[in-house]
Amino acid sequence: MNTTLLHEHEELLAAAQDVRSRAYAPYSNIAVGAALDTGDGHVFLGCNVENASYGLTICAERSAVFAAIAGAHLDFVAIAIAGPSGMLTSPCGACRQVLAEFNPEMTVIYTTPDGPVSTTLAELLPHSFGPLV
Ligand code: THU
Repeated sequence: MNTTLLHEHEELLAAAQDVRSRAYAPYSNIAVGAALDTGDGHVFLGCNVENASYGLTICAERSAVFAAIAGAHLDFVAIAIAGPSGMLTSPCGACRQVLAEFNPEMTVIYTTPDGPVSTTLAELLPHSFGPLV
């Protein structure tokens, strides 16, 4: 875990902060934004989308991954995740597994009450189950 962000990661985090405003979270009131960097100049955004049937909620991280896949990008080098100030917003277990499908070594930046931190997916999800291909 690193508390000093690279310049490009500051920009990625700013994009994640920005897309929080588009979250649909009327039930939890917890707006989360994610920005996924493909490493070749593309950034895909995601926000959480809740549902009256609570279990159908999609997290910001998976929303960003699905947008990237639909945009024909499968290689990711970093993801930034922004939640409300004062809340630790590291990716949930389901999102860690989905991210690991594409790059278990990717950089993960997320917000905490003490400021943003940078780590790796391998750190957050060691010994992850890998794709069968
Ligand atoms: N949420 C995310 O979007 N990403 C996370 O990593 C954790 C949780 C969302 C899901 C739900 O809409 C709200 O935050 C509260 O759990």
